[in-house]
Parts: sequence; C-alpha cells; structure tokens
Amino acid sequence: MAIVTGATGGIGRWIALGLARAGYHTVLIGRDDARTKAAQAWIAQRVPQASTEPMRADLSLLAATRALGEQIAARHRKIAVLVNNAGIFDATRVVTAEGQERMLATNLLSPFVLTRALLPALLAGAPSRIVTVGSSTSDSARIDPDGLVLGARWTMVQAYGQSKLAAMMMTFAFARQLAGTGVTANVVHPGLVASGLVRTPGIIGFAWRCMAPFALSEEQGADTPLAAALAPEFANISGVYLKTRRVAPPNRQALDPVLVDRVWAATQRLADVA
Ligand SMILES: NC(=O)c1ccc[n+]([C@@H]2O[C@H](COP(=O)([O-])OP(=O)(O)OC[C@H]3O[C@@H](n4cnc5c(N)ncnc54)[C@H](OP(=O)(O)O)[C@@H]3O)[C@@H](O)[C@H]2O)c1
Repeated sequence: MAIVTGATGGIGRWIALGLARAGYHTVLIGRDDARTKAAQAWIAQRVPQASTEPMRADLSLLAATRALGEQIAARHRKIAVLVNNAGIFDATRVVTAEGQERMLATNLLSPFVLTRALLPALLAGAPSRIVTVGSSTSDSARIDPDGLVLGARWTMVQAYGQSKLAAMMMTFAFARQLAGTGVTANVVHPGLVASGLVRTPGIIGFAWRCMAPFALSEEQGADTPLAAALAPEFANISGVYLKTRRVAPPNRQALDPVLVDRVWAATQRLADVA
C-alpha cells in the first residue's frame, strides 16, 4: 500500500493517481474531508479499479500528525511507498496553535513525525520507498541547526528554503539509518509547477501567475516524485536528490554528516516538544 500527503490537489493528487494506477491501495491524506473525498472521486473517474482510502489530518499540527501515524500503523502493517508531499509557502510568519512556525511545522516537523511513526510498517513492507518532495530553493538555502525556528530574522524565502533544506537533510539521515534494510529514502524537486500556489492571494500569487505560462502542469510535476516512488532504476538508490528523473547535486551542507546529525537532533527536539 502507498500513502500520499497533500493528496487533495496540486502535484499530490497526480502522485496519488499514479500510485493507484500502479495498483497500490493508496491512502489519500488531506485536512478537509470534502476535498479528500473529491480527490478520491477524481481518481476513481480516471482509474475505475483504483483502491483508495481518504484520511484526515492537519499536518501543520504535530499532535494531529502523530495521531494520523498511529491510525495508519494500526490499519496497515506493511507500507510500500510513503510520499511526504504536503508543503506550504507562507508569505507571512504564521504560528500554529501548538506554537510552531507553520511552514517549518508543515514542511519539516510533520514529515519527520509521520515518517518516524511509519518506520515499522515501512520496514515490514520492504522493499519500500520514502519520497520527500523538496524544492530547488534548498540549493541556495543556508541552514543553522540552532536557528531552524526563525524569529525576528524570518523572511519567506529563508524560511521556506531552510525548511526544504532541512527536509532534505532529514531524508538523507533516514536513508543512512535505513541502509541495508530495503527501505530507501530520497528527496525530489518536482520542477516549477503551476499548482495551487498560483491561487495564493497577494504578491506571491501574482508572481506565480506571471510565471505560470512557463511552469510545468501539475501532472508533469508529479513525474519525478512518481519515478522516485515507482521506477525500477531507483529501486536500490537511497539518500539522493532527484530533479527531472536524474540524480542531482544537493546543497553541499546536506552532504556534511556532522551538520546532518545536528539538523536531525534539532528537528527531533522541536518535533517532540509539541
Ligand atoms: N509548485 C511548485 O512549483 C513547487 C516547486 C518546488 C516544490 N514544491 C513542493 O511540492 C509539494 C506540493 O506542492 P504543490 O505545488 O502541489 O502545492 P498545492 O497545490 O498548494 O498543494 C499542496 C497540498 O498540500 C496540502 N496541505 C497544505 N497544508 C496542509 C496541512 N496543514 N495539512 C494537510 N494538508 C496540507 C494541500 O491541501 P489543501 O487542499 O487542503 O490545501 C494540498 O493538497 C510541496 O511540498 C511544495 O513545497 C512545489
């Protein structure tokens, strides 16, 4: 079986379609029941034999993510594919009800909590694959393990880029820990995609709408994440960064094992506080 977060729209809905088409029972995770059921119906229209299961969680909240992990683990003993796709780009600094900066919580802490909760089922389902949808903004991002939570220094570009670089480093750390188990963990950049981001209000949405004619479709954006999840050529490849179906050089900071360990420890500290 396969799991996709952020399966209600954008790239994630197409990733879920691809996994269902490949024959996986696919769990569609969304934060809104109506949108998750709509995604289920959308997949059924295209793949009538698809087996899908909607589940709800607000992935900006770690208690909800933990509860989701427990629910999935209770229902499914073996997982073949986990795609950590849900992600956001906030134009202003938003703090969740748990006191976490929302972009960091959604893009890094929640995938960390969910992946960790599902490790026993991923190991039981091996050969299995963890795919984290990153972003090429990580290429030029700077990371400070002691400053993952940006306070007064918060800017949307630094906060998004750092959250995606940290998610990459988290994925590489999972890959290292899981070496030899048959569970792979890779991070992918989907390309510049005209997704739900173009509907963002304000200047961000305006910038996205200007770029939209040059961007990939949502379906095209799902291509590399789906290759990481399904393609035979990536079956035994772990701890890499993929762009347009090819292994790409990651930010050099992600190749420093000491820094990766520090980011892991900081992520764990933040995730286990809430
Ligand atoms: N678009 C690009 O050019 C681009 C480039 C690089 C990387 N990415 C990455 O690709 C991934 C998918 O993004 P997208 O472009 O497809 O964006 P999108 O169209 O905005 O879709 C995001 C998905 O994540 C879900 N989501 C957001 N916050 C959530 C929360 N708190 N709880 C549960 N679900 C939540 C959304 O659910 P709702 O339907 O409820 O909103 C939606 O299903 C993200 O990780 C993004 O950072 C995108």
